[in-house]
Amino acid sequence: MDTQINNLDLLGSLQSVEENCWTLLHGGASSRKSAMHQAAVATAVDGMALMRTVVLRRVDMVGKRLFLHTDLRSKKMNDFERGDCLSWLFYDQSVATQIRLSGKVILHHQDSLCREHWGKTGHHSRRYYMSETAPSVAFDEPFTGLNPALTSFAYTLEESEMGLANFVVVETEISWMEWYYTHHTGNRRAVFRYTEGFLKEASWLSP
Ligand SMILES: Cc1cc2nc3c(=O)[nH]c(=O)nc-3n(C[C@H](O)[C@H](O)[C@H](O)COP(=O)(O)O)c2cc1C
Repeated sequence: MDTQINNLDLLGSLQSVEENCWTLLHGGASSRKSAMHQAAVATAVDGMALMRTVVLRRVDMVGKRLFLHTDLRSKKMNDFERGDCLSWLFYDQSVATQIRLSGKVILHHQDSLCREHWGKTGHHSRRYYMSETAPSVAFDEPFTGLNPALTSFAYTLEESEMGLANFVVVETEISWMEWYYTHHTGNRRAVFRYTEGFLKEASWLSP
C-alpha cells in the first residue's frame, strides 16, 4: 500500500466517495430505471473522437470493471482493434453526480464470459445480432435492419442462437475515475487511479 492509500484512510470521506461511485454504477447495471443504466462511451482513433450511448450491462465492483454488449460488426469494434482504450460518461441528475471513467478494453467473443452473458440475453434482445445486415450499412431509404421474421419476433430461442456469432462483451478495466458533484454550496470533485483493480491514488480536485 503506498502513501497515497494511507492518506485515504485519514480522508474517510474521500474513500466513501469512491465507494459511493461504484455503488451508483452497480445500481446502474442492475436497474433499468437508473439514469446510470445508460452511458456515453467514447473512442478516439485516427484523429476522430466518437461517442455513442450504450447500456451498462455489468459492474465488477471488486475488480473495477465495466461491461457492455455490442455487435462484432460494429464500427466501434474497429476502434477497439486500433486503440484499446474506452472512456465512459455517466450523469444522474437525481443525485447531481457525474462519473467519468477510462480504461483498457478486453474483448470477449465466443469465450466463456461471452457465452455466460449471451445465455442471460433475452429472446427479444437477440434479433439485431441475428440480422444479416451489419450495423452502419448505408441504404437509400429508412431500414430497421430486420427482416419480417425478426421484426415480428417469429423465431425460437433455439434459432436465436445464431446471433451468438455476432455478440461481443466489451470489458473495460478501469484505470481512472473522476467524480463531480454539483451543489449550491459549491461543487466537489475527486479523482481515483487504479492498477489492475486496486486503488492506487485518490485526490480531491478543484471543480
Ligand atoms: C438507448 C440506447 C442504447 C444503446 N445501447 C447500445 C449498446 O448497449 N451497445 C451498442 O453497441 N450500441 C448501443 N446503442 C447504439 C449505439 O449508440 C450506436 O449508435 C451503435 O452502437 C453504433 O455505434 P458505432 O458505429 O460507434 O459502433 C444504443 C443506442 C441507444 C439510443
